[in-house]
Amino acid sequence: MQIIKTVAEMKDFVHKIKAAGKSLALVPTMGYLHQGHLTLMREAKAACNTVVTSIFVNPLQFGVGEDYEEYPRDLTRDAQLAEPAGVDAIFAPAVAEMYPKGYHTFVDVEEITNHLCGRSRAGHFRGVTTVVNKLFNIVQPDKAFFGQKDAQQVLVIKRMVADLNMNLEIVTVPIVREEDGLAMSSRNVYLTPEERRAALMLNRSLQQAKAAIEAGERRGSAIRDMIVQTIETEKLANIDYVEVVAMSSLEPQEKLEGEILIALAVRFGKTRLIDNIMLTV
Ligand code: PAF
Repeated sequence: MQIIKTVAEMKDFVHKIKAAGKSLALVPTMGYLHQGHLTLMREAKAACNTVVTSIFVNPLQFGVGEDYEEYPRDLTRDAQLAEPAGVDAIFAPAVAEMYPKGYHTFVDVEEITNHLCGRSRAGHFRGVTTVVNKLFNIVQPDKAFFGQKDAQQVLVIKRMVADLNMNLEIVTVPIVREEDGLAMSSRNVYLTPEERRAALMLNRSLQQAKAAIEAGERRGSAIRDMIVQTIETEKLANIDYVEVVAMSSLEPQEKLEGEILIALAVRFGKTRLIDNIMLTV
């Protein structure tokens, strides 16, 4: 497995793969890999000859006061995990390599970025779509793999790919959870043992909502209230949002029908966690 730090070397690697007629998958990450990322990599390897994973903590997608500085970084550890998961090359550029002096171009998907995380993290998705666009241009993947935990991110990237006529397939992989149900996230390392225990309420509340819908509840507000009440029993939880929305538009749904997304973001101390569940009603 190669570790590539410059755009020029990455393009050279891609050129050789393409010249050999091989298919190429990209797994974009910000590193500090966990089983969720490794699942994406294994799926990517099953689908394509060559897998590139990018490891880049993208400053553009962090707002003022967010955790850009503290975000965990450990390239040596990541490389040890990525290789057995089938990765052929890690692209780990420095910030100045991605955004050199004079950089002034940004990609902005409108409308669906006004909801959920887009509302509480101004500019976040502009940062995501800009860096993902650059990664797609540099790596030219046939397929790119993203986790369903960032459900809105997947939707925004699919929108960008469709709107800009980009020539690749976006593959979404289901959320990978710890045995006790906590969705895997690089940010879980920030949690104290007490916060981690309290965070189990997120998946529990989503499962409860799913059971209520399966039992016939069709009012979005009733589902939302149920989740809020369940999470608020944990005094360490501080809700950012709980939303019951249409999967395609991310607009809140009162009468539940078709594909719906129940998404939430909750703070435990300084750690903001997201989780979601998709249901067809
Ligand atoms: O999901 C992430 O880790 C990031 O948002 C991504 C897609 C790698 C872009 O920086």
